[in-house]
Amino acid sequence: MNSSHGAEIIAMAGKGGTGKTTLTALLIKYLVESGMTPVLAVDADANANLNELLGLKVDVTLGEIRDRMKTETPQGMTKNEFMEFHINQAIIEATGFDLLVMGQPEGPGCYCMANSILAQVMEKLARNYRYLLVDNEAGMEHLSRLNLRKIHTLFVVSDPSARGVLTAARIADLTKSLQVDVKQKVLVVNRVPEDIPEALDNHVKDAVAKTDLNFGGYLPASQEIFQKEMAQESLLDLPQETPAVRNAFEIFRKFLG
Ligand SMILES: Nc1ncnc2c1ncn2[C@@H]1O[C@H](COP(=O)(O)OP(=O)(O)O)[C@@H](O)[C@H]1O
Ligand SMILES: [Mg+2]
Repeated sequence: MNSSHGAEIIAMAGKGGTGKTTLTALLIKYLVESGMTPVLAVDADANANLNELLGLKVDVTLGEIRDRMKTETPQGMTKNEFMEFHINQAIIEATGFDLLVMGQPEGPGCYCMANSILAQVMEKLARNYRYLLVDNEAGMEHLSRLNLRKIHTLFVVSDPSARGVLTAARIADLTKSLQVDVKQKVLVVNRVPEDIPEALDNHVKDAVAKTDLNFGGYLPASQEIFQKEMAQESLLDLPQETPAVRNAFEIFRKFLG
């Protein structure tokens, strides 16, 4: 990481429900507990829920600020200044990391300027952090909307199925057509059963051979994650010995140091 060039960007990709937000929460836990801070997490899913997995409450989203910029920028203030001021106020501060929520995508009409200002403000903001994590929804639109051109690590999360792994491979290929330079792509197969069938291993090997994906590892279907979800408690409180946490941390250590 290089402070003059801003944060290293880590992004999540994968079909809905595969575990992107869960992995983002575990990654925040890893970075914070390893002292690899400060971290800015951006919830770029329209149905924002990363905050719930972190035990945080959201007051205002970037989408709301962007909408208000159009009509509410006071005289004597540039739209840039308006956005910067409100985005700084929207930052949710936690221990070792901050969180920003993108919220709903824009409605009809032209938001080109608003989005370009948003990207500028975010780029400036990112200079204050060591890592910028982007929890995406299934699509990758936000990566271009935020004008993220250089991604350090893209985690592609898959469910433990033949078609899931195939989809992950397709997503890895799709990112080539975006104007982003991705340094490494890491496949994580989530919610695997205790006995990993050889067929799944073979599908993974196939996907890795056919794409530029690196195999990160398997994360077990976790009773502990399930219980935290049910109790609506923060994943940050999970003990490091929890098998899913241990596996995730191993993957992070290998690819992020
Ligand atoms: N390894 C796991 N073990 C148990 N439950 C999991 C695991 N990973 C994800 N989940 C659960 O699966 C659901 C979808 O996960 P989520 O991270 O929200 O997926 P995504 O962000 O990709 O849509 C959530 O209810 C989450 O608690
Ligand atoms: Mg999600």
